[in-house]
Amino acid sequence: DDDSSLRPSSLDEYIGQHDLKENLKIFIQAAKQRNEALDHVLLYGPPGLGKTTLSYILANEMGTNIKTASGPTIEKSGDLAAILSQLEPGDVLFIDEIHRLSKVVEEILYPAMEDYCLDIVVGKDSSVRSIRLDLPPFTLVGATTRAGDLSAPLRDRFGIVNQLAYYKQEELEKIVRRTARVMETQIHEDAITEIAMRSRGTPRIANRLFRRVRDFAQVMNDGVISLEIATMALDRLKVDHMGLDDVDHKYLRGIIERFKGGPVGLEAIASSIGEEPTTLEDVYEPYLLQIGFITRTPRGRMVSNKAYEHLKIHHDDGLF
Ligand code: ADE
Repeated sequence: DDDSSLRPSSLDEYIGQHDLKENLKIFIQAAKQRNEALDHVLLYGPPGLGKTTLSYILANEMGTNIKTASGPTIEKSGDLAAILSQLEPGDVLFIDEIHRLSKVVEEILYPAMEDYCLDIVVGKDSSVRSIRLDLPPFTLVGATTRAGDLSAPLRDRFGIVNQLAYYKQEELEKIVRRTARVMETQIHEDAITEIAMRSRGTPRIANRLFRRVRDFAQVMNDGVISLEIATMALDRLKVDHMGLDDVDHKYLRGIIERFKGGPVGLEAIASSIGEEPTTLEDVYEPYLLQIGFITRTPRGRMVSNKAYEHLKIHHDDGLF
């Protein structure tokens, strides 16, 4: 994707996710000392936090190649067999959206992960039989926004399972500073702070906002990103002071105006604002939950007082 030029190539260059990084360094060193492939890794969490970036780094640190695929594009068992049979010893196979693999494809994956074997069916009718091919040792890196949607047998076959966390303000500032350096753009410190503040704890968003702000700075000024330019650009991009965008606003206002602040079910909100339930659940809600703007109750989502205050909407809580 468009982040490839910004992607750090080593764990030392990778900013944030400190504990995960330190643990991975140990597992990498151990696997290398034993001359083995790194154990299979499952990375889960909201989009844009660096799951793909980390998998490229793992291959690089192991000194091997990476092959990439995505759950929905591996349609038939033969598609996966073709990918697996091209692996070389120690390679990383990255499967994005791994929760979207079909059952038949998943079942090819089990012996591949467990025993580095590929079971294929040959012949037909009375001569149909299964033959077992050896695969080289490899590392499957699976990425998903929803670990809960993974089948238990698949989840259990990963030796390293980690959730990626939202980034802290200071980490996002480091990422924006690094991006400015890589893209040879001058930026003021207060502009770095502003972009980081509005990027919802997400490096991909920080980098996307950086590129757009840089466009404004280039066309409307001398190319230098000042706080004034950054603020003007971010306002024009309709990204508010907490990084909430149009969809977040529609979502929160939708619950407040049509469902009295909740509780309301995901499906009802989604159809009332014309968004996919899965998009809201995987992309928008995790951050709104993290900043305490919504809560999830058994009866549905509720908007918190904090969100009412942020939106400057009077909240009649029914107490008076
Ligand atoms: N670019 C995107 N994510 C990054 C990260 N975690 N560290 C450094 N650069 C990045």
